[in-house]
Amino acid sequence: MSDSHAAGQLFDQWAADDRARRMWQNHLPRVRQIWEMIPSSDGHYLEIGCGCGLGLRHVAENQYRDGRCMGIDVSQNMIRLAEETTAGLANVRLEAVDFTNWEPGDGRTFDAIFSMEVFYYFPSIQEGLNHASRLLAPGGRLWVLVDCYRENTASHDWSEKLGVPMQMWSSAQYADGFARAGLSEIGQKTLHHPKDEGASEPPTLCTYGRKCE
Ligand SMILES: C[S@@+](CC[C@H](N)C(=O)[O-])C[C@H]1O[C@@H](n2cnc3c(N)ncnc32)[C@H](O)[C@@H]1O
Repeated sequence: MSDSHAAGQLFDQWAADDRARRMWQNHLPRVRQIWEMIPSSDGHYLEIGCGCGLGLRHVAENQYRDGRCMGIDVSQNMIRLAEETTAGLANVRLEAVDFTNWEPGDGRTFDAIFSMEVFYYFPSIQEGLNHASRLLAPGGRLWVLVDCYRENTASHDWSEKLGVPMQMWSSAQYADGFARAGLSEIGQKTLHHPKDEGASEPPTLCTYGRKCE
Protein backbone atom coordinates (compact mmCIF):
# COMPACT_ATOMS: atom_id res chain seq x y z
CA MET A 1 0.00 0.00 0.00
CA SER A 2 1.43 3.44 -0.87
CA ASP A 3 2.02 6.00 1.92
CA SER A 4 -0.70 8.26 0.51
CA HIS A 5 -3.20 5.41 0.22
CA ALA A 6 -2.55 4.41 3.86
CA ALA A 7 -2.99 8.02 5.04
CA GLY A 8 -6.16 8.34 2.95
CA GLN A 9 -7.65 5.23 4.58
CA LEU A 10 -6.73 6.38 8.10
CA PHE A 11 -8.23 9.84 7.65
CA ASP A 12 -11.32 8.50 5.91
CA GLN A 13 -12.01 6.75 9.24
CA TRP A 14 -11.22 9.87 11.28
CA ALA A 15 -13.61 11.89 9.13
CA ALA A 16 -16.36 9.32 9.60
CA ASP A 17 -16.45 9.83 13.37
CA ASP A 18 -15.87 13.00 15.36
CA ARG A 19 -12.04 12.83 15.35
CA ALA A 20 -11.46 15.15 12.39
CA ARG A 21 -13.09 18.15 14.06
CA ARG A 22 -11.58 17.31 17.47
CA MET A 23 -8.15 17.18 15.83
CA TRP A 24 -8.76 20.58 14.31
CA GLN A 25 -9.86 22.08 17.65
CA ASN A 26 -6.58 20.81 19.10
CA HIS A 27 -4.58 22.38 16.23
CA LEU A 28 -6.45 25.69 16.22
CA PRO A 29 -4.60 27.55 19.02
CA ARG A 30 -1.29 26.94 17.21
CA VAL A 31 -2.53 27.50 13.64
CA ARG A 32 -4.08 30.80 14.75
CA GLN A 33 -0.57 32.13 15.46
CA ILE A 34 0.36 31.62 11.78
CA TRP A 35 -2.81 33.16 10.36
CA GLU A 36 -1.39 36.47 11.59
CA MET A 37 1.48 36.00 9.10
CA ILE A 38 -0.74 35.41 6.05
CA PRO A 39 -1.14 38.69 4.15
CA SER A 40 -4.54 39.70 2.84
CA SER A 41 -4.77 39.12 -0.90
CA ASP A 42 -7.08 38.94 -3.89
CA GLY A 43 -4.91 36.14 -5.30
CA HIS A 44 -4.82 32.35 -4.90
CA TYR A 45 -4.47 30.38 -1.65
CA LEU A 46 -3.88 26.63 -1.30
CA GLU A 47 -4.25 24.46 1.80
CA ILE A 48 -2.63 21.01 1.46
CA GLY A 49 -4.35 18.36 3.59
CA CYS A 50 -7.20 20.67 4.57
CA GLY A 51 -8.96 18.01 6.66
CA CYS A 52 -12.43 19.10 7.81
CA GLY A 53 -11.98 22.53 6.20
CA LEU A 54 -12.35 24.79 9.26
CA GLY A 55 -8.97 26.44 8.66
CA LEU A 56 -9.70 26.93 4.98
CA ARG A 57 -13.02 28.53 5.85
CA HIS A 58 -11.30 31.02 8.15
CA VAL A 59 -8.84 32.14 5.45
CA ALA A 60 -11.59 32.26 2.79
CA GLU A 61 -13.67 34.53 5.05
CA ASN A 62 -10.76 36.75 6.10
CA GLN A 63 -7.37 37.17 4.38
CA TYR A 64 -8.60 35.77 1.04
CA ARG A 65 -12.21 36.99 1.11
CA ASP A 66 -11.43 38.83 -2.14
CA GLY A 67 -9.34 35.96 -3.51
CA ARG A 68 -9.73 32.28 -4.39
CA CYS A 69 -9.06 29.38 -2.00
CA MET A 70 -8.33 25.80 -2.90
CA GLY A 71 -8.34 22.92 -0.39
CA ILE A 72 -7.03 19.49 -1.26
CA ASP A 73 -6.95 16.27 0.74
CA VAL A 74 -6.22 12.66 -0.14
CA SER A 75 -9.19 11.54 2.01
CA GLN A 76 -12.51 11.66 0.17
CA ASN A 77 -14.37 11.74 3.52
CA MET A 78 -12.34 14.74 4.71
CA ILE A 79 -13.24 16.57 1.51
CA ARG A 80 -16.93 15.79 2.12
CA LEU A 81 -16.61 17.35 5.60
CA ALA A 82 -14.77 20.34 4.13
CA GLU A 83 -17.60 20.79 1.60
CA GLU A 84 -20.09 21.00 4.49
CA THR A 85 -17.82 23.37 6.41
CA THR A 86 -17.33 25.78 3.48
CA ALA A 87 -20.83 25.50 1.99
CA GLY A 88 -21.97 28.87 0.68
CA LEU A 89 -18.48 30.29 0.21
CA ALA A 90 -18.18 31.07 -3.50
CA ASN A 91 -14.41 31.57 -3.34
CA VAL A 92 -13.62 28.00 -2.17
CA ARG A 93 -12.82 24.97 -4.35
CA LEU A 94 -12.07 21.49 -3.00
CA GLU A 95 -10.54 18.37 -4.53
CA ALA A 96 -9.91 14.87 -3.17
CA VAL A 97 -6.41 14.27 -4.55
CA ASP A 98 -2.95 13.15 -3.52
CA PHE A 99 -0.84 16.30 -3.36
CA THR A 100 2.35 14.46 -4.31
CA ASN A 101 1.17 13.97 -7.88
CA TRP A 102 -1.39 16.75 -8.19
CA GLU A 103 -1.21 19.59 -10.69
CA PRO A 104 -3.82 22.36 -10.80
CA GLY A 105 -5.53 21.75 -14.16
CA ASP A 106 -5.26 25.34 -15.31
CA GLY A 107 -1.51 25.75 -14.63
CA ARG A 108 -2.35 28.11 -11.78
CA THR A 109 0.20 29.16 -9.17
CA PHE A 110 -0.50 30.22 -5.58
CA ASP A 111 0.35 33.33 -3.57
CA ALA A 112 0.22 31.39 -0.30
CA ILE A 113 0.39 27.68 0.49
CA PHE A 114 -0.33 26.40 3.98
CA SER A 115 -0.24 22.95 5.53
CA MET A 116 -0.79 21.68 9.11
CA GLU A 117 0.39 18.17 10.04
CA VAL A 118 0.67 16.73 6.52
CA PHE A 119 4.17 16.74 4.98
CA TYR A 120 5.55 13.80 6.97
CA TYR A 121 2.92 11.52 5.40
CA PHE A 122 4.52 12.04 1.98
CA PRO A 123 6.97 9.34 0.81
CA SER A 124 9.57 12.13 0.49
CA ILE A 125 9.29 15.41 2.42
CA GLN A 126 11.86 16.97 0.07
CA GLU A 127 9.81 16.04 -3.01
CA GLY A 128 6.75 17.54 -1.29
CA LEU A 129 8.63 20.79 -0.62
CA ASN A 130 9.96 20.89 -4.18
CA HIS A 131 6.44 20.39 -5.54
CA ALA A 132 4.96 23.09 -3.27
CA SER A 133 7.75 25.47 -4.29
CA ARG A 134 6.99 24.86 -7.99
CA LEU A 135 3.32 25.72 -7.35
CA LEU A 136 4.14 29.09 -5.74
CA ALA A 137 3.78 32.29 -7.73
CA PRO A 138 6.82 34.62 -7.70
CA GLY A 139 6.89 36.19 -4.23
CA GLY A 140 4.52 33.49 -2.93
CA ARG A 141 4.88 32.09 0.59
CA LEU A 142 4.85 28.58 2.01
CA TRP A 143 4.10 27.56 5.63
CA VAL A 144 4.63 23.96 6.70
CA LEU A 145 3.58 23.01 10.25
CA VAL A 146 4.40 19.64 11.80
CA ASP A 147 4.11 18.02 15.23
CA CYS A 148 5.97 14.88 14.14
CA TYR A 149 9.65 15.85 13.97
CA ARG A 150 12.92 14.64 15.44
CA GLU A 151 13.06 16.98 18.46
CA ASN A 152 9.53 15.98 19.50
CA THR A 153 10.34 12.63 21.09
CA ALA A 154 6.65 12.13 21.94
CA SER A 155 6.01 11.76 18.19
CA HIS A 156 8.59 9.02 17.58
CA ASP A 157 6.11 6.14 17.93
CA TRP A 158 3.19 7.74 16.08
CA SER A 159 3.88 5.88 12.85
CA GLU A 160 3.87 2.55 14.66
CA LYS A 161 0.80 3.45 16.75
CA LEU A 162 -1.25 4.62 13.75
CA GLY A 163 0.08 1.99 11.32
CA VAL A 164 0.89 4.62 8.69
CA PRO A 165 4.36 5.40 7.29
CA MET A 166 5.69 8.78 8.52
CA GLN A 167 8.97 10.50 7.63
CA MET A 168 10.95 11.89 10.56
CA TRP A 169 12.94 15.09 9.91
CA SER A 170 14.62 17.43 12.38
CA SER A 171 13.93 21.18 12.44
CA ALA A 172 17.32 21.74 10.74
CA GLN A 173 16.33 19.35 7.94
CA TYR A 174 13.09 21.28 7.38
CA ALA A 175 14.99 24.57 7.11
CA ASP A 176 17.54 22.99 4.77
CA GLY A 177 14.75 21.34 2.75
CA PHE A 178 13.14 24.75 2.16
CA ALA A 179 16.49 26.09 0.90
CA ARG A 180 16.96 23.08 -1.38
CA ALA A 181 13.46 23.67 -2.74
CA GLY A 182 14.71 27.10 -3.88
CA LEU A 183 12.94 29.19 -1.24
CA SER A 184 14.40 32.21 0.56
CA GLU A 185 13.47 34.37 3.60
CA ILE A 186 13.33 31.06 5.49
CA GLY A 187 12.35 31.15 9.14
CA GLN A 188 11.10 28.85 11.85
CA LYS A 189 8.76 29.28 14.79
CA THR A 190 7.76 26.98 17.58
CA LEU A 191 4.08 27.24 18.36
CA HIS A 192 2.89 26.41 21.85
CA HIS A 193 -0.59 25.27 22.63
CA PRO A 194 -1.51 27.38 25.67
CA LYS A 195 -1.90 24.27 27.81
CA ASP A 196 1.56 23.08 26.63
CA GLU A 197 3.40 26.10 28.05
CA GLY A 198 6.24 24.82 30.16
CA ALA A 199 5.72 21.20 29.04
CA SER A 200 8.86 19.18 28.39
CA GLU A 201 7.93 18.20 24.81
CA PRO A 202 8.64 20.67 22.00
CA PRO A 203 5.61 22.32 20.43
CA THR A 204 4.53 22.49 16.75
CA LEU A 205 7.34 23.32 14.36
CA CYS A 206 6.46 25.88 11.69
CA THR A 207 8.90 26.43 8.80
CA TYR A 208 8.18 29.17 6.29
CA GLY A 209 9.79 30.64 3.23
CA ARG A 210 9.21 32.68 0.12
CA LYS A 211 9.78 32.23 -3.58
CA CYS A 212 11.92 34.92 -5.21
CA GLU A 213 10.00 37.63 -7.10
C1 LIG B 1 -3.18 15.12 10.69
S1 LIG B 1 -4.42 15.46 9.49
C2 LIG B 1 -4.49 17.25 9.54
C3 LIG B 1 -5.74 17.82 8.91
C4 LIG B 1 -5.86 19.36 9.00
N1 LIG B 1 -4.73 20.02 8.37
C5 LIG B 1 -5.97 19.79 10.45
O1 LIG B 1 -5.09 20.50 10.93
O2 LIG B 1 -6.95 19.40 11.11
C6 LIG B 1 -3.52 15.16 7.99
C7 LIG B 1 -4.35 15.38 6.74
O3 LIG B 1 -3.48 15.28 5.60
C8 LIG B 1 -4.13 14.51 4.60
N2 LIG B 1 -3.10 13.93 3.72
C9 LIG B 1 -2.18 13.00 4.04
N3 LIG B 1 -1.42 12.69 2.96
C10 LIG B 1 -1.88 13.47 1.94
C11 LIG B 1 -1.52 13.61 0.56
N4 LIG B 1 -0.55 12.87 0.01
N5 LIG B 1 -2.19 14.52 -0.19
C12 LIG B 1 -3.20 15.27 0.35
N6 LIG B 1 -3.60 15.16 1.65
C13 LIG B 1 -2.94 14.27 2.42
C14 LIG B 1 -4.93 13.49 5.40
O4 LIG B 1 -5.96 12.89 4.66
C15 LIG B 1 -5.45 14.32 6.57
O5 LIG B 1 -6.68 14.95 6.31
